[in-house]
Amino acid sequence: MSEFEILKYPDPFLRKKASRVERVDSSVRRLVEDMVETMRRAKGVGLAATQVGVDKRVVVLDVPLIGVNEDICEELEERERVLLKLINPEIVASGGEIEYEEGCLSLPGITADVVRAAEVTIRALDADGRGFEMKAGGLPAIALQHEIDHLDGVLFIDRLSRLKRELLVRKYRKAMAAEAV
Ligand code: NI
Repeated sequence: MSEFEILKYPDPFLRKKASRVERVDSSVRRLVEDMVETMRRAKGVGLAATQVGVDKRVVVLDVPLIGVNEDICEELEERERVLLKLINPEIVASGGEIEYEEGCLSLPGITADVVRAAEVTIRALDADGRGFEMKAGGLPAIALQHEIDHLDGVLFIDRLSRLKRELLVRKYRKAMAAEAV
């Protein structure tokens, strides 16, 4: 397994709408495994292929089990967490509203409260290319929406008011500049 470098805002690749995976083959499975490795090293709860410079609709998540329907939990790593590998994920239904303080591996050092759907139904392919559907609520629902946004070139800061976004981006740029010194 190898690890990817995670692209940081304002890398233009983060704005790209990713292409659908036409065939789940060994190269896609390898991509998934390398993304899992990269997410774990970075201690993230989710990672989209877009964030590692790969133009494919693939996301991985490592989220609490609460809120996820149990029949998709064959890959339980620990009792309370579930590792999800989703190819061509799509939100087919959503409802409710939830606000949560989000961060992103592509925007290190900043967080903000984002409003999203509280429950989502996702349709996707698994790492063997089989279609499945899952329901999620709470943190898994938030993480799924955040990662699927990445595949469309959308970042969590885009979901804030313009004023909040500008303040946050200013703070981020300042922190990045300080780090570069
Ligand atoms: Ni992110």
